[in-house]
Amino acid sequence: ADNTNTTDVLVVGAGPFGVTTALALARQGVRVRMISRAPWVANTPRAHITSQRTMEVLRDLGIEEKAKHVATPWDQMGDSLLAVSLTGPEIARMPAWGSGYARHGDYVKHSPCDYLDIPQDRIEPVLIDAAGQAGVTITYHTELVDFEVDDDGVTATLRHLISGAEETVRAAYLVGADGARSRVAEKIGLPFEGHVSRAGTLYTQFRADLSEYVAHRPSILHWFFNPDTGVGEIGLGLLRCTKPWHEWICGWGFLVEDGVPDVSDEEITERIRALVGVPDLEIEIFNRMVWYVNQQWATELSRGRVFCGGDATHRHPPSSGLGLNTCVQDAHNLAWKIAYAFKGYAGPGLLETYTPERAPVGKQIVLRANQSRLDYQAIRDCIDTSGDADPVTNAIANLNAPTEEGIALRAKLEDALQLKEHEWNAEGVEKNHRYVSDAVIPDPSAGEEVWADNIETHHQMTTRPGAKIPHAWLVGSDGHRLSTLDVVGDGRFTVVSGHAGVAWREAADGLGHEWLRTVLIGADAEARDPYHDWYRKREIHEAGALLVRPDGVVAWRMPDAVWELDQARELLVAALDQVLDRA
Ligand code: FDA
Repeated sequence: ADNTNTTDVLVVGAGPFGVTTALALARQGVRVRMISRAPWVANTPRAHITSQRTMEVLRDLGIEEKAKHVATPWDQMGDSLLAVSLTGPEIARMPAWGSGYARHGDYVKHSPCDYLDIPQDRIEPVLIDAAGQAGVTITYHTELVDFEVDDDGVTATLRHLISGAEETVRAAYLVGADGARSRVAEKIGLPFEGHVSRAGTLYTQFRADLSEYVAHRPSILHWFFNPDTGVGEIGLGLLRCTKPWHEWICGWGFLVEDGVPDVSDEEITERIRALVGVPDLEIEIFNRMVWYVNQQWATELSRGRVFCGGDATHRHPPSSGLGLNTCVQDAHNLAWKIAYAFKGYAGPGLLETYTPERAPVGKQIVLRANQSRLDYQAIRDCIDTSGDADPVTNAIANLNAPTEEGIALRAKLEDALQLKEHEWNAEGVEKNHRYVSDAVIPDPSAGEEVWADNIETHHQMTTRPGAKIPHAWLVGSDGHRLSTLDVVGDGRFTVVSGHAGVAWREAADGLGHEWLRTVLIGADAEARDPYHDWYRKREIHEAGALLVRPDGVVAWRMPDAVWELDQARELLVAALDQVLDRA
């Protein structure tokens, strides 16, 4: 008997990219089989900085509140410390992740969601739970052995690692979410640029109550200039808090050519005590992990029916916190496209828009993360250990010297801190994507976009096609606030217009697509605009329209008024046909 199991989409890998893709597909009614050769979710904290844009995706997927429940809140994330030790002299506090008074307002203005710290071993169970409940069939201890692609689908051979038994799965599409050593990316021959394993970092997890040193200047990251741990590219010792303020990771770099350092628990304890600055601190070490600094990205992400994303296509260090965040956004971009193609709402051309939209983002974040690491050099250059005492005492004395040299050193430190804004408060890196592909129709009347501020550190809201619809606060029929993001998405296309957009609504309704809805912001009881927030942000006439994709990206816009039903229908059909390759 043929014991081939069938599914619509086979997702190989259950890390952040795989499980988010699986969840988003299942919410659209697509049958998904997801496998992982691991026994369960991430067993170490790994990625943790969770951007507002990621939280917006989780909001769209219905799990924002659950994610918040396992998170370290925003107001405890941010005063990144640069010091000699947790008890020693401070060199600087670096407000990060939009938590500082100088930038917090920008972040709050631009999203309905919080910035959060959610270690990977806490977010993955939330995602897996939601995926399972949405109907994804999940099998751990299961490895992809090989697969073949034909015109109609993919046939994959899986091996169950406990029994050794093999299984054949037939699917319409295969998603390679199998991480940095992706077998899928290799098999379909995705081209890569860059290099791997430039440097190494050793992480040790430990428990110790450090509240008294941290709670008054809360932060999840603390950097130390300390000769014992100042090795490797960053050259600073790290304490990262995973549970305020009693569970921590201590990290320091090592040179790859020296191999993984073989340090005993006693030595690690001594180093942690040095970073904290308390010689007899009680510490319980409970885990160790090693990771390497990579700088590699794929320039193509798919071949026909096979798609890769997450670490399978971009490999980089944690600086800037772009790992998990980029995985989630790759998934949000890809899932609706597969769902629409699978259900016949779209032609196969839609699937070809994944690479032009996400490959440039992969390259951008790999280069950004690596640059953020290298930028620590500017801080280290401000540490002048010359003098008669020990290096730490000298460095602090030189930084505080009431001399011309001291003034120059402090000016240099200010420049170095400004450079780190591109890591700590890189709101533009997170939110300024402008997709260029066949699933986006440029607005010829708009001209070149002019950036009012730094493209990496500052977000610019716009309804230009290719950008995410701006967040504006609306009011729903129950009087509660809701975001423009809440009236789009959820797997559907949305025609967004204003009070005067009646022709658009009639045109969209007349098409009878279950995946297309209309919202007339201001006029609709469930999307009123009493703050005039949308009025100020929409950049289109009240009788103009935006066509917003399921991932919240503006696919097309008509900036001018359209009053006639026929014209609205004609414009809308033409836009949908092009964006979805339906012609
Ligand atoms: P991920 O690697 O998470 O998942 C791959 C999945 O594929 C797993 O489920 C695996 O079992 C499965 N798989 C692989 N091959 C398979 C096969 N042949 N058959 C079946 N299943 C297969 N990032 C960051 O931003 N900040 C940080 O501090 C850190 N720290 C960190 C520490 C450590 C120790 C690691 C290992 C990684 C990090 N990262 C990180 C990186 C971050 O964890 C990473 O970006 C995401 O986990 C990538 O998610 P993916 O879903 O792409 O792959």
